[in-house]
Amino acid sequence: MRKLVIAAIAISVPGLVAANALTDAVKQRQNFMKGYGESVGMLARMAKGEVEYDAATAQGAADRIAEMAHRDTSAWYVPGSSSADLPGVSYALPALWADGAKVGEIAGRMAPAAETLKVAAGEGRAQMAGALGGVGQVCQDCHKSFQAKKD
Ligand code: HEC
Repeated sequence: MRKLVIAAIAISVPGLVAANALTDAVKQRQNFMKGYGESVGMLARMAKGEVEYDAATAQGAADRIAEMAHRDTSAWYVPGSSSADLPGVSYALPALWADGAKVGEIAGRMAPAAETLKVAAGEGRAQMAGALGGVGQVCQDCHKSFQAKKD
């Protein structure tokens, strides 16, 4: 009996660890994306004039976006963690794992767009807003193809 219980634990534990590793990876990439959302959102409010433009604050946000854009976050996109695998947890469409070339093409545009924003952010509201549009386009292109809608 005791042996059976131990055997059952030994079988179930790897499954549990794997499930946690998947949801951890999802949380990590979602937190990363939230960071993007905060910085881009703040600059967007300045661009629209909802918040007064401040060169130093804008530069700080742009620096953060550029630093993030250079990070390789592919390790968080573990197979088995799509919105089909983990409904209600993951909002990354299965297409993300099926169309690596397209993901790579869009993701590859993020760093150059972020570098352009970094150069422009402290130069004035209009310059920042123009370059922010370039970054926003990359975010949007990727979400259109690879992010599931939250309902
Ligand atoms: C290469 C593709 C790609 C790019 C580029 C990208 N995203 Fe995302 N984003 C995703 C995917 C996929 C998800 C869903 C992640 C998940 O739920 O596992 C997501 C989710 C999000 C979320 C929701 C996070 C949450 O709370 O769950 C926000 C906010 C976000 N992205 C903002 C941005 C912003 C802002 C940019 C541009 C600076 C950006 N993203 C660029 C693919 C991308």
